[in-house]
Amino acid sequence: MIRFKSIISRIVILHVIAVAITSILMSLALSWLLNHATTNLHNDAMEEQAASVAHHLVPQPDGSLSLALPPDLQGLYSQPYGRYSYAVVDEHGKTLFSSLKDRAPIFPADPRAAAVQFLETRNGGAAISGASIRRAVGDTTVWVQAAEDMANRDVLIDDIVEDFYKNVGWITLPILLVLLVTDIAIFRRALLPLRQASEIAQQIGPARTDVRLPLNEIPSEVRPLVSAINQALDRLDQGFRVQREFTADAAHELRTPLSILRTRVETLDDPRIAKALHLDIEAMSRVVGQLLDIAELEAFTIDPSELADAQGACAEVAEFIAPLALEQGREIALLGVSTPVWVKGNAEMMKRAIRNLAENAIKHAPVDTVVEFVVEENGTVKVLDRGPGIANEERELIFQRFWRRDRNQQGSTGLGLSIVQRIVELHGASIAVENRVLGGAQFSLHFVTADKTA
Ligand SMILES: Nc1ncnc2c1ncn2[C@@H]1O[C@H](COP(=O)(O)OP(=O)(O)O)[C@@H](O)[C@H]1O
Ligand SMILES: [Mg+2]
Repeated sequence: MIRFKSIISRIVILHVIAVAITSILMSLALSWLLNHATTNLHNDAMEEQAASVAHHLVPQPDGSLSLALPPDLQGLYSQPYGRYSYAVVDEHGKTLFSSLKDRAPIFPADPRAAAVQFLETRNGGAAISGASIRRAVGDTTVWVQAAEDMANRDVLIDDIVEDFYKNVGWITLPILLVLLVTDIAIFRRALLPLRQASEIAQQIGPARTDVRLPLNEIPSEVRPLVSAINQALDRLDQGFRVQREFTADAAHELRTPLSILRTRVETLDDPRIAKALHLDIEAMSRVVGQLLDIAELEAFTIDPSELADAQGACAEVAEFIAPLALEQGREIALLGVSTPVWVKGNAEMMKRAIRNLAENAIKHAPVDTVVEFVVEENGTVKVLDRGPGIANEERELIFQRFWRRDRNQQGSTGLGLSIVQRIVELHGASIAVENRVLGGAQFSLHFVTADKTA
C-alpha cells in the first residue's frame, strides 16, 4: 500500500475513489429509476389499450360477444404495423378475438389472476410485454390482453436508457476535475500560512531566539502544534537567557577580585614577582573581558539602518594598538583608502573585531616586522602579518571557542576569533583567511557597503 505523505494527495485520492463509487451508484440508481418509470408508462399504456379494446366488446342476444373496433384501433393492431397486438380470451382459455395471425392468445388466461396483470412472453427472439385485464361483459368473463412487441418498440426510450450510462460517465469526469482543482486550491490556500510560518522558523537559531511563529492565519487543526512550538521556543529562549546572564554575571563577579589582586600585587616588594603576577592578572583580565564580550554579543542585535565608517574604525584601532605593538617590537601600518568607507553595521562592534585580529597579528608576527591594516573601497578590511600563517587543517578550528594552537601560551584563550566571527555574522559580513605568498596570515573582513547620502 502506497503511503501518501501529502495531505493534498491523500484527499485527492480519496475524492477520486469517492466520486468513482458515487458515480457508479448514482448511475445504477438513476438507470433503475428510469427503467422503472418507462416500465410504468408502458404498463399504464398497455392497461389503457386493453381497456379500450374491452370497451368495444358488445354482448349478443345469443350470449356470445362481438368486437367492432373503430378504424383507428384497427390500424393500431394491423399486422403490417406489428408493434401492438390484442387478444380476448374466455375463461376456458379459448381465444375469442385476436389481432394475431393464428388467432392465438398473447398470454394464457389465468382465472385466479388479479383483475389487472402485467405479463411478458417471448415470441422468437423478441420480448412481448403487456397487460391482461379481467372484464365481465354481459354474463361472460373475459381476459382482454394488449401487448407491445419490444423489438419494435419506440427507439427513443431505448436510446435514453442506453445513452444514460455514457452521459453519466461523461458528466463524472468534469465533476471529478472540478473537485480535484477545488481540493488543491483549498489546501494550497489553507497551508499557505504554514509555509510562511516555516520560512519564519528557519530564521530561528541560537542568535535569534526571539522569533515566534504567527498564529493568526494558521488553520485551527494545526494551531495547537504551532502554539506548542512557540511555547517550546519560549522555554528555550528563557534557558538561553539564563545561560547568557550567568556568563555575564560570572565575568562581572570576577572583575572585582581581579582589581583587588592588581592593587595587592603593586604592594609586593620583589619587582620581578610583581611583574610576573601582573602579566598573569592581565591575561586573566583578558579572558574575563572576552567572556563579557561574548555574553554581550549573544544578546546584541544591529539596527539594519545603522552605518559605520570602516576606514575610521580601522584607523582608530591602529592608533590605539600602535603603542602596544611598538612596546613588543612590531610596527603598525595603515594602508588602503584614507577616506571614509561607509558600511552597514555598528562601529563599536566593528572595532572590537578588528582589534581582536590586530592582537592576534601582533602576537604571531616576528619581532621587527610590520602588521598591516588595509581598508578597501569595497568595504573590505584586511589585517596582515608576517607570522607562521594558518595551516589548511586549522582554518575552521581557529574560529571555535577556546581553540588555540598552543594551550600553554600566556593570555591565549581561543575566544578572540569566535568573537570576530560572531560580529561578522551580526553584520551579515564575511571573513576569509589566507596565507600570504611570502609568509604570514591575512584575515579579511568584508562588510556590506552602504551609500551614506541615501
Ligand atoms: N594571525 C595569526 N597567525 C597565526 N595563527 C593565528 C593568528 N590568529 C590566530 N591564530 C591561531 O588561532 C588561534 C585562535 O585565535 P583566537 O581565537 O584569537 O584565540 P587566542 O588569540 O586567545 O589564542 C590562536 O591560538 C592561534 O593559534
Ligand atoms: Mg586572539
